[in-house]
Amino acid sequence: MGLMRLLPRSQERTQTSQGTQLARVIAFANQKGGVAKTTSTLNLAVAFQEQGLRVLVVDLDPQGNLTMSQGLNPDVIERSMFDVLVHRIPISEIIEQREADLAVASIDLAGAELALSAMIGRERALEKALAEVRASYDYVLVDTPPSLGLLTINAFVAATGVIVPVQCEYLSLRGLVQLENTLAMVRENLNPQVGVEGIVATMFDGRTLHSREAIEILEENFGELVYRTRIRKTVRYAEAPVKGSSVLKYDPSGAAAEAYRELAREIVAAKEAEDGAQARKHA
Ligand SMILES: Nc1ncnc2c1ncn2[C@@H]1O[C@H](COP(=O)(O)OP(=O)(O)OP(=O)(O)O)[C@@H](O)[C@H]1O
Ligand SMILES: [Mg+2]
Repeated sequence: MGLMRLLPRSQERTQTSQGTQLARVIAFANQKGGVAKTTSTLNLAVAFQEQGLRVLVVDLDPQGNLTMSQGLNPDVIERSMFDVLVHRIPISEIIEQREADLAVASIDLAGAELALSAMIGRERALEKALAEVRASYDYVLVDTPPSLGLLTINAFVAATGVIVPVQCEYLSLRGLVQLENTLAMVRENLNPQVGVEGIVATMFDGRTLHSREAIEILEENFGELVYRTRIRKTVRYAEAPVKGSSVLKYDPSGAAAEAYRELAREIVAAKEAEDGAQARKHA
C-alpha cells in the first residue's frame, strides 16, 4: 500500500516551444464502475468554466453517459470519438457546444478497442487527436470507461495527470493499486510525465462510520493525494443528467453544485502551488 505516495505528481508538458500555453489534460479513471467518474468530469468542467477557464470534455466511454448527460443521444450520433481515434478525423469536427465543449461518444465507440488494437500507434490516438485543440483550452477533461483497456490507456498517454474518483462506500484499495500499476507501465513506456494528481472521495455520507473510515483509510495510504473536498451523497447528482444538465446548472445554489466548485478551486490551487514550487526550484 501507499504506492502512489511514492510517486511524484505529474510534471507537465503544458508549453509549446513558442511559449503558447497548452491545456492540461486530465483523465478521470477508475476501473471500478459507478464511482462518479462521469459525474465528476462534467461537473468539474462546468465549475472550471464558471471560473473563466476554457474547457473541453471528451467522452471516451462507449456507454456514452457523459454525452447523454448533456442531452445528446449516443445511439443516433453519426460521427464521434470513434471516428477521431480510428479514422483519424479532426476532433474539432465532432465537438458539440453544450455547457462545455464536448467531444461526443457514440455506440460504435464500443468497437474502438478492437479496431485500434491492430493499428500502429494505437496507444497514442487520443494524444495525436488532442494536439489540434490543446492550445485552445485551459483544461481537457477525459471521461473513461470502467476498465483499464486501450481507451483508458489512450487517456493516460494523452494526460498530464489522472484524477481518481473513489466511492467511499465500496472502497477498493486493491483496485487503486491495480490502476497505479497500469499507470506505471504507461509512465515507463509511453508517457513519463503522467501520474495520479489526486483522489476524490465521492458519495460520502458523514453520518456513517463506514464513510468516515473509508476516508481515513484513503488518507493513511495516499496522504496529500486525497483532496480535502469531499463529494457528499445526494440524489441531485442523479437528477441533473436526466434534465441533460450539470448539477451546477440544474441546482446552481445547492450544496451539490458548490461541492464541485470547491473541488475545482482546490485543484487549481494545488496546481498553482506546484507551479510555484517548480519555479523556485529552477530559479
Ligand atoms: N455524490 C453522489 N451522490 C449520489 N449519487 C451519485 C453521486 N455521484 C454520482 N452519483 C450517481 O451514481 C451513479 C454513477 O455515477 P457515474 O455515472 O458518474 O459513475 P461512473 O464512475 O462514471 O460510472 P461508470 O463506471 O459506469 O462509467 C449515477 O447514477 C450518478 O448520478
Ligand atoms: Mg461513467
